[in-house]
Amino acid sequence: MEAVTPLIEGGIFAYLNYLVPAKRKEILEILVNGLKRMEYRGYDSAGVGFEGTNTKNGSHELKTIKQKGKVARLEEEIAQTTDLDFEKEFDTHIGIAHTRWATHGEPSPTNSHPQRSDPSNEFLVCHNGIITNYKDLKSFLITKGMVFESETDTEVIVKLVKHISDKHKDSAISFRELVELTVQQLEGAFSLVFMSSKFPGECVSTRRGSPLVIGVKSKAKLSTDHIPILYSKDHRGLMNPALHHTDSTTEFHPIGNKEVEYFFASDASAIIEHTNQVIFLEDDDVAAVQNGCLTIHRIKRTLDESATREVTTIKMEIQQIMKGSYSSFMQKEIFEQPESVVNTMRGRVNFETNQVVLGGIKDFMTEIRRCRRLLFIACGTSFHSAVATRQLMEELTELPVMVELASDFLDRQTPVFRDDVCFFISQSGETADTLMALRYCKQRGALIVGITNTVGSSICRESHCGVHINAGPEIGVASTKAYTSQFISLVMFALVMCEDRISMQDRRTEIIQGLKNLPSQIKAVLETDEHVNTLARELYQQKSLLVMGRGYNYATCLEGALKIKELTYMHSEGILAGELKHGPLALVDKAMPVMMVVTRDKVYPKCMNALQQVKARHGNPIVLGNNDDKETQQQVNKYIGVPSTIDCLQGILTIIPMQLLSMHIAQLRGCDVDCPRNLAKSVTVE
Ligand code: F6R
Repeated sequence: MEAVTPLIEGGIFAYLNYLVPAKRKEILEILVNGLKRMEYRGYDSAGVGFEGTNTKNGSHELKTIKQKGKVARLEEEIAQTTDLDFEKEFDTHIGIAHTRWATHGEPSPTNSHPQRSDPSNEFLVCHNGIITNYKDLKSFLITKGMVFESETDTEVIVKLVKHISDKHKDSAISFRELVELTVQQLEGAFSLVFMSSKFPGECVSTRRGSPLVIGVKSKAKLSTDHIPILYSKDHRGLMNPALHHTDSTTEFHPIGNKEVEYFFASDASAIIEHTNQVIFLEDDDVAAVQNGCLTIHRIKRTLDESATREVTTIKMEIQQIMKGSYSSFMQKEIFEQPESVVNTMRGRVNFETNQVVLGGIKDFMTEIRRCRRLLFIACGTSFHSAVATRQLMEELTELPVMVELASDFLDRQTPVFRDDVCFFISQSGETADTLMALRYCKQRGALIVGITNTVGSSICRESHCGVHINAGPEIGVASTKAYTSQFISLVMFALVMCEDRISMQDRRTEIIQGLKNLPSQIKAVLETDEHVNTLARELYQQKSLLVMGRGYNYATCLEGALKIKELTYMHSEGILAGELKHGPLALVDKAMPVMMVVTRDKVYPKCMNALQQVKARHGNPIVLGNNDDKETQQQVNKYIGVPSTIDCLQGILTIIPMQLLSMHIAQLRGCDVDCPRNLAKSVTVE
């Protein structure tokens, strides 16, 4: 699968001053400010690591201060630290800082970054992303006597550096080489910044599938605006004779070696106030600063890669950078979906072997398979993700499946039994109705499975087991990328449930291969944005919009209508097309705006029938269908086409134009799409 930006962040910020004197107080201020600039990304804890000299024996050691909650709490914690001389001045110093969005282990100081190699903090690391083979690495390192203190995947990285460093203690291995050897063992996605008490004043950083940018600030003109790549030996010590290898930093005009400051960050917004001279690292680059010189190394060379990294001048306002080129967080989150769906599947779906593993519920699968029924309980968009997957769930599990709105489920005091398995789906993990329903089911002895986007949330903590959807922080109040990731998480669960059913293998394989193609298909759907915007212009002054469909796309209608009403304040209703003649058809006339979702699946003939009924009442519907379905396109004059996928996954593609449409209509009506009126991101009251 192609490397993508993981959205599970947090942010990294590091600062290195070389021959630029700064007081410890100033260094910590720079680090904390860097974190503040990335606060918009969403996080649940923060930490800093910095060099400190032991006031008693003068020895060089690294210190960390970490805290759960906002950066302001970290700041308070720093201010309350009494054993530090804040006025002490350093000519050269490195500090690393991080805001963490929990993925492995709940938010806590121990799980926050920097993570350390050992109690003496010989190595520290800050990490964005996910290490998918961390369990294997952890088991290996435990056999080597390493003692783990956090629940994070990140801790294996820094323990592995220490392990490799100990193994090479008699050789003159450099800090950068240690990091190179370490990252060759890592699978997953990451950006990393390391510091070490063994290598004072040095910093090493690297990335794979997660962004990392280096800012350079220097009074002197930089010696070059193209940093040549140096090719390192691979982990077996082999060198490709066709390539030029060197470990010498001088012959390549390194950046630096006079007074210079470096800023490493996962996000340019943290750097821009210090310098606009930046270098964007590429995947598998290892950037090292030693004696004030910055060099960039790679282990392998691919045919078409550039031999240099350019020093770019960025001219952007901070606010602009936070949202990137997007007009709102909602737009950013809609456009992040090609990556967020990959993160939901990362380390779980193996497209070569067609295996699916959900680590968080693996140990409970025997119990789950034996249950008498499955209940899916949620509110709003999260509820719709359960509606979207109910049909597949019934097909692949052959169990009774109930999909319930949490508030109604509680109002009815629905009977729940010990042999029920109850799923609670929630982006925030804090929705009061969902949480109350969870407690209600737990009291009755059911097995509780949480499906959330927020590690350490109440629903996470109170579940017996669960699946973290890994969509990354969702800031816009209207849920978008969380929906598609919840959808995929539930599909993955259904696939796990039927893995031993021989009769279902062909169906499983087609779905898994369908999942593989989703990221590129979502990208293709996002290309309809301009066309959807044109349709939004035709609709934005209307009072109402009906959204009709059935089968796998019924959830798209419910979710699409919810997006329209919450963002545009227009009336909108998702209507099951099979119910049309039982009432809703009375609403249809030539003035009523109608959208119909008609895709090429088993209910296509019935959807076409509904389309004819609407047209017969002089309705002029916009049809959302497959882009290769010429037959339907000929029937209407307004059509949005999306790529075709497996029937049960089609809803992931059909919801995206609805997200775009609601956003454009809202913007045309002058509404704030990130903060719709009367709504909160986390509904913690009943
Ligand atoms: C709609 C929306 C809400 C939430 C609902 C549940 O865009 O965001 O309908 O889906 O409040 O929230 P969570 O998923 O946090 O439990």
